[in-house]
Amino acid sequence: MSIFKVETSASKKVRTDTMFAVRMHSYGGPEVLKYEEIPRPKAGAGEILIKVHAAGINPVDWKIREGYLKEMANRTLPLIPGWDFSGVVDSIGPGAKKFEEGDEVFGKGDLLRNGAYAEYLVMREEDVEYKPKSVDHVRAAAIPLASLTAWQSLFEAAGIQSGQSVLIHAAAGGVGHLAVQLAKWAGARVIGTASKSNLDFLMELGVDEAIDYQATRFEDVVHKVDMVLDTIGGETQKRSLKVLAKGGILVSIVSQPSQEEADSFGVRQSFVFVRNNATQLAEISDLVDSGLLIPTVETVLSLSEAYYAQELNKAGHTRGKIVLRIV
Ligand SMILES: NC(=O)c1ccc[n+]([C@@H]2O[C@H](COP(=O)([O-])OP(=O)(O)OC[C@H]3O[C@@H](n4cnc5c(N)ncnc54)[C@H](OP(=O)(O)O)[C@@H]3O)[C@@H](O)[C@H]2O)c1
Repeated sequence: MSIFKVETSASKKVRTDTMFAVRMHSYGGPEVLKYEEIPRPKAGAGEILIKVHAAGINPVDWKIREGYLKEMANRTLPLIPGWDFSGVVDSIGPGAKKFEEGDEVFGKGDLLRNGAYAEYLVMREEDVEYKPKSVDHVRAAAIPLASLTAWQSLFEAAGIQSGQSVLIHAAAGGVGHLAVQLAKWAGARVIGTASKSNLDFLMELGVDEAIDYQATRFEDVVHKVDMVLDTIGGETQKRSLKVLAKGGILVSIVSQPSQEEADSFGVRQSFVFVRNNATQLAEISDLVDSGLLIPTVETVLSLSEAYYAQELNKAGHTRGKIVLRIV
């Protein structure tokens, strides 16, 4: 049950310059998230105003709420979290030329600016792409941040080629389930880890081998892979060094691996922090429309349930993604 006041259809009719949004007013637990009516933002130069239809949930949403990543920049509070969106262009700011009103778009927000737990979102036009036509807004909002992370890890950091082998940790999760499909599309042999309840899901995604991380130590059965995608960190990251072939690469999206330890195994290491890249997003959108990349949405919630969506994600066992349906 939602703890938030829910908008009525009567209040919807009269609003033209306000919007409902969920904002964090301080750093802390889910209670710092407030569902409230606030001024509707306007698109500035080179920006577009998007009517948000759906917002994807990512671990970074609750990590920022809890005060992680504070060092990245001084964020102004209150802040609207939620950095994955799909929606429709509502209005165009001065000088913005890429889109027209009514275009269906999606993308990853800027972690330093307001996000998509809101009815409207202002984005720089260059960070936005046309939404894949073959999926609805809810499934489109599941894609940008996780798929860009997977893309930049597999193809930029590791340069994965056809015939190489990849171990993907948390292959059933938001990043993992898209990384598996992208690695298979690139022609790699893919090994994924998940708990027993997700092994069938991994096989459906196309892994060549699925490992139940609770029953089997992955380093006992995985040897000489070309890349490990570390989505877990800690001991999992350290143990991952042992399964790489000489010259292979450990790519973490959680924490920078130790260069010294990597050297001692004769392997390379890299840390990826996802960046906006509309060219990559356009390629990803094409793959979705070709049926080669299929996002899984496990749970759909309403905007006023954002706090619950974050807590559900924080529990760490989402299959695919959780998405807020806003329209
Ligand atoms: N650096 C970046 O730019 C960047 C970008 C995106 C994400 N991230 C980070 O990457 C991590 C993963 O993100 P995500 O969105 O994929 O998370 P997620 O969707 O919340 O991951 C959930 C998945 O993790 C699996 N899992 C949990 N513990 C596991 C373990 N010990 N071994 C294997 N699988 C395990 C769960 O599978 P079971 O239920 O089967 O256990 C579940 O499917 C987060 O820490 C996130 O903050 C970083």
